[in-house]
Amino acid sequence: MTINKAVFAGSSVNLEGRPAARLPEFAFIGRSNVGKSSLINMLCNNHSLAHTSATPGKTLSINHFLINNEWYLVDLPGYGYARISKEGRAKLASMIRDYACNSPQMMILFVLLDSRLELQKIDLEFLQMLGEEGVPFAMIYTKADKVGSTVLQERIERNNKILLEYWEELPPVFTTSSRTAAGREEVLSYIEEILKLQNS
Ligand code: GTP
Ligand code: MG
Repeated sequence: MTINKAVFAGSSVNLEGRPAARLPEFAFIGRSNVGKSSLINMLCNNHSLAHTSATPGKTLSINHFLINNEWYLVDLPGYGYARISKEGRAKLASMIRDYACNSPQMMILFVLLDSRLELQKIDLEFLQMLGEEGVPFAMIYTKADKVGSTVLQERIERNNKILLEYWEELPPVFTTSSRTAAGREEVLSYIEEILKLQNS
């Protein structure tokens, strides 16, 4: 998969507000600061496409990026962002959940986990919710440049064991780094495969 063109296609706060063109979507979700926006930039080879920040809670709306005039990458706000009001957090959580579960064009939701951290309760709860709602998802371990490969492999195996308590089959798992572009080809090939299946 070659990305020839990636353009910002609009910001919204609900499903109704998404861009008018109904095209396949691949969205990125995960805890605040896990690296969703950075990963979109890395995949598109454009460091200024999605806004990133070292402070959690940078992305607070649903952002569509039109790729090759054919499909969208969707940047979602992070879940579990603590530094806003309880009310604001609940609103954000319902925006994310509604979008993740109800977009008819959603091909795959990529759930991002920080390679440096153990699986958090909030991640597991979110994954369980996706299972209950029947949302197709894959997992991406981000910031792989920050940990050794053995440590990461052990973490993935530990998490897989936990997931297998709830699922019969594991979802596809990728490891990426927005710093080194590791995992870029793997994620893009996976997207390409799904788009091909959808068109056949
Ligand atoms: P919110 O929009 O706040 O939910 O965060 P986000 O998930 O979009 O994270 P974002 O892409 O803004 O990145 C958060 C911080 O992590 C930034 O300081 C990034 O530079 C850093 N970061 C993201 N990806 C990587 C990575 O692969 N490696 C390293 N070392 N840092 C990363
Ligand atoms: Mg972001």
